[in-house]
Amino acid sequence: MQLRRLGKTDLQVSVLGFGCGAVGGLLVKGDRAEMTRTVAHAIDAGINYFDTAALYGNGQSEENLGAVLRELNANVLVGTKVRLATEEFEEIETAIVQSVERSLRRLQLETVDLIQLHNLVAAQRNPQRQIASVEDVERAMSVFQDLVKAGKARHWGFNGLGEPGAIKRALHSRAQTAQCAVNLLNPSAVMPVSANFAFEDYGQTINVAAQEDVGVIAIRVLAGGALSGSAERHPVAAQAVDPIASNPNFADDVALAQRFHFLLEGGYADSLVEAAIRFVVGNPNVATALVGISTFDQLAQAIDAANRGPLPQDALDRLSPKWG
Ligand SMILES: NC(=O)c1ccc[n+]([C@@H]2O[C@H](COP(=O)([O-])OP(=O)(O)OC[C@H]3O[C@@H](n4cnc5c(N)ncnc54)[C@H](OP(=O)(O)O)[C@@H]3O)[C@@H](O)[C@H]2O)c1
Repeated sequence: MQLRRLGKTDLQVSVLGFGCGAVGGLLVKGDRAEMTRTVAHAIDAGINYFDTAALYGNGQSEENLGAVLRELNANVLVGTKVRLATEEFEEIETAIVQSVERSLRRLQLETVDLIQLHNLVAAQRNPQRQIASVEDVERAMSVFQDLVKAGKARHWGFNGLGEPGAIKRALHSRAQTAQCAVNLLNPSAVMPVSANFAFEDYGQTINVAAQEDVGVIAIRVLAGGALSGSAERHPVAAQAVDPIASNPNFADDVALAQRFHFLLEGGYADSLVEAAIRFVVGNPNVATALVGISTFDQLAQAIDAANRGPLPQDALDRLSPKWG
């Protein structure tokens, strides 16, 4: 699998990354043997970045990932996250250090390759809603750098979700990486969209990140599963998915996904999932595209799609009118 440089970190990450969150919940709720078999297959296929968070399954994802990687004696890159709770906004430094200590214990690691702030970003902080200001992001990046000096982490980043203007300001901070949402339903982080675009306009945050050499980790590549074209959820997956920057509810996103069937009919891809993954992986400003995994077969399909490379230019040209 192709490797790409993750911005200023200089890490080389696989274009497809393994999402260990609760949406595709294998690493949270899955059967342990299935987790091990699937992670082993990912590593064999060249996937080297595994993305988790203290929040995923309330620590369960970190625990499971740590146990599986230890069992496999695997040498891969692990990224995790700290989400500041409402009461922690007054003591950001202490909260971050304690959260990272807990994450390292659950992961059975002495150092994590990437530590990220998980909170949304806005111009004004809003502790009640766990929204960080750009200044909070700056402070978090400085605590992360102290953790690097202490040997607890190697690189640091933030969540490129929230208000686009604030995200862009935070991209000029000391952050080395950012997680940004981009998919066929909402491509506004990678291209201009019209003034009457139906969803949040991210204002090409991913392109700004690339200019700043901030390594981009793409999320919501499958719109939380809606881009499979089916509303059915796998038993280990989150049964209710809150869309990010698309329709207010998941069922409407599934309906909207049908708009992209022309890619199958035109012979550009064999499935919507394949088209959705190739759309994101095909963007050179994305270092790694995370996919949430519920089953071994989903992973295998994602690997096949990523290895097919970008969608042809002809398909991209035919996509533009769909975003009206
Ligand atoms: N920084 C943040 O705040 C943030 C937010 C969201 C995600 N993330 C990261 O991104 C990762 C990916 O999660 P996501 O929320 O962005 O979800 P996603 O990857 O857009 O969608 C995952 C869902 O797609 C479906 N799927 C996956 N492969 C499939 C296949 N081959 N065929 C059919 N359906 C398939 C699964 O649905 P079923 O399970 O129902 O089958 C799965 O739950 C997370 O694990 C996490 O690491 C980060």
